[in-house]
Amino acid sequence: MPLQNIDPTTTIAWKKLTEHFKETRHTHLKNLFSSDAQRAETFTLRWNDFLVDYSKNRITSKTTRLLLALAQEVQLKDAIQKYFEGDAINETEGRAVLHTALRAKKTDTVLVNGANVIPEVYKVKEHIKSFTKAIISGESTGYTGKPFTDVVNIGIGGSDLGPAMVTEALKFYKNHLNVHFVSNVDGDHVHEVLKGLNPETTLFVIVSKTFTTQETLSNATTIKKWFLDNGGEQTDIAKHFAAVSTNTAKIKEFGISAKNVFPMWDWVGGRFSLWSAVGLSIALAVGYENFDSMLVGANEMDEHFKTTDFKDNIPVVLALLSVWYNNFYGADTEAIIPYTQYLSRFSAYLQQGFMESNGKSMDRNGHRVEHETGTILWGEPGTNSQHAFFQLMHQGTKLIPTDFIGYKESLHGDKDHHNKLMANFFAQTEALMNGKTAETVEQELLEKNISQDEIKKLVPFKIFEGNKPTTTFLIDKLTPKSLGALIAMYEHKIFVQGVIWNVFSFDQWGVELGKQLATAILKDIENSEITDHDGSTLQLLQYFKS
Ligand code: F6P
Repeated sequence: MPLQNIDPTTTIAWKKLTEHFKETRHTHLKNLFSSDAQRAETFTLRWNDFLVDYSKNRITSKTTRLLLALAQEVQLKDAIQKYFEGDAINETEGRAVLHTALRAKKTDTVLVNGANVIPEVYKVKEHIKSFTKAIISGESTGYTGKPFTDVVNIGIGGSDLGPAMVTEALKFYKNHLNVHFVSNVDGDHVHEVLKGLNPETTLFVIVSKTFTTQETLSNATTIKKWFLDNGGEQTDIAKHFAAVSTNTAKIKEFGISAKNVFPMWDWVGGRFSLWSAVGLSIALAVGYENFDSMLVGANEMDEHFKTTDFKDNIPVVLALLSVWYNNFYGADTEAIIPYTQYLSRFSAYLQQGFMESNGKSMDRNGHRVEHETGTILWGEPGTNSQHAFFQLMHQGTKLIPTDFIGYKESLHGDKDHHNKLMANFFAQTEALMNGKTAETVEQELLEKNISQDEIKKLVPFKIFEGNKPTTTFLIDKLTPKSLGALIAMYEHKIFVQGVIWNVFSFDQWGVELGKQLATAILKDIENSEITDHDGSTLQLLQYFKS
């Protein structure tokens, strides 16, 4: 069954939220805290080793009541059921959306077109396990009998960002294998990676759901040539290349041995695929057990999302907050600031999830929406980001709801550093909320013996308005399991946003036009004649070729 088709702006809750916004838009968070001693507790969710404090958001109990009513009116419960049960909710491609089945329990049943997909999922998991174990232990070797030292993941988009982000995030748990990523069609990327590698000890994993992506096939072809030019024979490809795809026929054409082929399924979207064999590089880097723990964490978050009342449901609450800011406050962007260097690729990874999924302007009727949809997502780890763009967050004109992700324990256990890191973590959300008044600024300057004239001049520049919304995630420790839960949490937030905005979150037609034009323009570059283009493109092509 398809998802229901409800324009959120026609709901009673939306109208009430519009009124409520007019009444409360200027309320300062500071006042909300001073008038309610229970506020922090009221707006905090605790689940497993997660504490989610969303009390520093511009909401009252009435706001959450109305947002929850909106979720009811757009039939979110029904949508969640269809999502988990494998209904073809990716309507424009006629597919189910079942990345959740990849981390389901062995005893679960998930039907796609009447067939239970779980046995097949577990068969592939067993294959990932035996393949990665053999490579890591040195039982499988390269063509000269030496154990593997390096792995190169060749893929782009969801076939790169997820494995690259997680490999970095779980670096602490890594084994001896060095994992590299080649994604860009820019030849300098692949040649730079190959520069330091030994073909005798390098394993190449080609990841492409479709096995038709220009970037990935170009890089795979270049790498295969490099391998053959540097000592490898055609027959050695079987030992050094593995592939993950739905397109097994194309993999065969490329010459990859059947035992190194990992299938995936069209009911897994590229940007949600790291849980499948697309995560092979992750399992190679940190071992199968850690990879599986990540899946367990994600599965626990799935259960939470599927079964918890909306008011206590972390992904639902996060999505509702996002709708509140995006559609009522007009906030275009959201930031994610992890206070751990391990998550340095986290927002780049989530950008694809959020922006490829909900960057849509057609509703489920094929009509242009009249409300805002997908938010722009960005971020960098703290404390680095504090010294880069926090100025704008504190004193700029834009409203940027921000997620702060921090851990109670650091992985290397350096208490001194961790206390400093976390002091910054807490200080930033407090400063963003409270700001600094003119009186405080004046007082501080007086204490520095600055003249009255100078104080008068300086005060406006040193005031912080505050009232900047943040949500704080305090998690015990960065483990494969908690990372799995964190990623799944954001996946479900994306889903809920899409349900409310009434868009199709699981296709990505918007990426096609550029691909089509690039194919045509490549001919213009390679042939002597340039076909017809607009004046600017024509001029640029002529200049490039000259
Ligand atoms: O960017 C469009 C897209 O289709 C993504 O959704 C996908 O993750 C990426 O290209 C790579 O596709 P494939 O895995 O088929 O090579």
